[in-house]
Amino acid sequence: TPFDTVILNADVATASDRYRADIGIRGGCIAAIGAGIGPGRETIDARGRLVTPGGVDAHCHLDQPMGDGSRMADDFITGTRSAACGGTTTVIPFAAQSRGQSLQAAVDDYHRRADGKAAIDYAFHLIVADPTPSVLREELPRLVAEGCSSFKVYMTYDDLKLNDRQVLDLLAVARREGAMVMVHAENADCIAWLTEQMLDAGLTAPRYHAHARPMLVEREATHRAIALAELADVPILIVHVSGREAVEQIRQAQGMGLKVYGETCPQYLFLTAEHLEQEGFEGAKCICSPPPRDRANQEVIWRGLDNGTFQLLSSDHAPFAFAGPHGKQAHGGDASFDRIPNGIPGLETRMPLLMSHGVMDGRIDIHQFVALTATNAARIYGLFPRKGTLAIGSDADLVIWDLGQPRTIRNEQLHHAVDYTPYEGIEVKAWPAVTLSRGVVVWQDGRYLGREGHGQFLRCDRPAPAQVRGRGYRGPLWQA
Ligand code: URP
Ligand code: ZN
Ligand code: ZN
Ligand code: ZN
Repeated sequence: TPFDTVILNADVATASDRYRADIGIRGGCIAAIGAGIGPGRETIDARGRLVTPGGVDAHCHLDQPMGDGSRMADDFITGTRSAACGGTTTVIPFAAQSRGQSLQAAVDDYHRRADGKAAIDYAFHLIVADPTPSVLREELPRLVAEGCSSFKVYMTYDDLKLNDRQVLDLLAVARREGAMVMVHAENADCIAWLTEQMLDAGLTAPRYHAHARPMLVEREATHRAIALAELADVPILIVHVSGREAVEQIRQAQGMGLKVYGETCPQYLFLTAEHLEQEGFEGAKCICSPPPRDRANQEVIWRGLDNGTFQLLSSDHAPFAFAGPHGKQAHGGDASFDRIPNGIPGLETRMPLLMSHGVMDGRIDIHQFVALTATNAARIYGLFPRKGTLAIGSDADLVIWDLGQPRTIRNEQLHHAVDYTPYEGIEVKAWPAVTLSRGVVVWQDGRYLGREGHGQFLRCDRPAPAQVRGRGYRGPLWQA
């Protein structure tokens, strides 16, 4: 038989196309798309159901070593399992350098954490926390060439943050090497100052996390990051954008013709700062940075997904258990807000939430859904067209959707190792019926069928969207 698997009667949606077809899979790749393409060893009848590319979750944290005594609940086994059950077939977590560590050592360590464990394919972003001369001159150019072609820069968090000069050095390397730079944009000194004021006043509960990180600290850092990228004349991507003020900065830069990309996350669509105000320590469950804002800002984020301001919707899955000594309560069940690990889980719920409340509620169309959850991430991080679309030659990573059956998100039904979901109780009208990773069924009718070690490490190409267009600052250095 010519195909390993044939998917019959698919209603296929990609970022650009919509058609009815059968899909023939051979050797883990899509080998044919057409009408009546003939038998396979296995057949899956999609029965006219919607079929989309598997999700590319380009911002998640798995088994990332923490500097503060906390520990992430999800490793590559449970994290990729959870992703697969929610329709995501590629994850890009972070190989994080700690200060004093070489970047290569961070990557080697991270490969050891991933090898043989992942159920779906994965690539690595880098986090550069210590941009030494050897990192800038040797390690980064080599790692970019070897397939880690994106790195994240932090403007906040004491153990990660870089100053403007260091960010400029890294932007210059990105320009030279063709890498994509992601920026966590919050003003560290403003946050430190506000935090000190609040702790001195005895305002220590989880809710004050949001008050220590108001929108203006995000707006200022976003503006500054964009200005630094304009000066270095290189594209930049602002991650986990939370609300109107940062959106306005990005929008203005895009209007000037700068290549500024934007990412947002479900927490900024479905949570507000009020979630941090729950009884006792419960608010810690929704502590992430930047914090969720208010309803009006949720609407601004929805609009940005629809109108092209944002290219990416990622989970920023940062899995800390609520109970136990390693997660949210690593420093006690009454820790002040500044000592609570930041981040929330969301790998499994990202795609169903956006399909349900984005597409089915009429806020975005199906092609924008695919672009935001898969295609753009593959393009922006150098994995396209192997990932992020359904085309002949692409990996057979796809989701067959069940759009009929309303359900309520319950953590007990999720597959991560975190003991809560911030989306508990939210209704969704969509969930993957089947997820395929390189032609292999990893999720079907409510059962996880994935296998540790099926997932492969992906080398990312130099992304086309990182290419310099020369629209930034043009000083005498550039004329030489
Ligand atoms: O609070 C968050 N977002 N934690 C995850 C780490 C990061 O900055 O993305
Ligand atoms: Zn961040
Ligand atoms: Zn993150
Ligand atoms: Zn809705």
